[in-house]
Amino acid sequence: MFNVIIADNYDQISSEAFRIVKKELQQEEHPVLGLATGSSPIGLYKKMIADHNVNGTSYKKVTTFNLDEYIGLPREHDQSYWTFMHENLFDQIGIPDQNVHMPSGEEPDMNLECDRYERDLANYTIGVQILGIGSDGHIGFNEPGTPFDSVTHVAKLEESTRRDNSRFFEGDIDRVPEEAVTMGLASIMKAKKIVIIAYGKNKAQAVYGMIRGPKDPSCPASILQDHSDVTIILDREAAALIS
Ligand code: F6R
Repeated sequence: MFNVIIADNYDQISSEAFRIVKKELQQEEHPVLGLATGSSPIGLYKKMIADHNVNGTSYKKVTTFNLDEYIGLPREHDQSYWTFMHENLFDQIGIPDQNVHMPSGEEPDMNLECDRYERDLANYTIGVQILGIGSDGHIGFNEPGTPFDSVTHVAKLEESTRRDNSRFFEGDIDRVPEEAVTMGLASIMKAKKIVIIAYGKNKAQAVYGMIRGPKDPSCPASILQDHSDVTIILDREAAALIS
């Protein structure tokens, strides 16, 4: 069941997402958050940092799991998701290192790493999972064609995804890694609540596929039609084809 919120601007999108995260932090003794990278959640993370600084909201008892990581970038690389999360959130909210879970893209045996991450996930239930959506309908790095029953796995990135993300690599697609490790669609679906953020006209088609399209691996986000608690927060451009 989708709860769709169409916001006036990006700040309002971020406030709506923050409201849901804050409620989870207030209600749960040991909150577990599922987190995404990319441009969509940055405003939410800024609000979490401001709330921590101004209101003293504590992250000492919060556990986090990230969706994905590039394979082949050292974690110190300025575009690794490890760096992204530390710069944009973790270093500024006082969350203990041991509470942060991220898949590693640097292991000699990536299949073992996928199994390890999925086992880690199995010890927790994610209360709120934050997602962005790719212009091709991916969530995490589950590209079109990924089976709905997938768990954490190595994914080959679509050319369109590498092109979209080249904006973070000085516009050079050749610098964007070709593979990533990602939570699978079945892993994502286990979260109690899902919040998906999308803005800009580049996302309109994917948003349409997620909400109105057939439930089919050709649009991975359409699997969310089977989840009982999904809030989709959009600007008018991203909502252009559904409203
Ligand atoms: C990031 C992730 C991806 C992004 C998606 C949208 O951890 O899993 O699915 O959420 O590619 O990226 P942005 O927000 O940069 O448009």
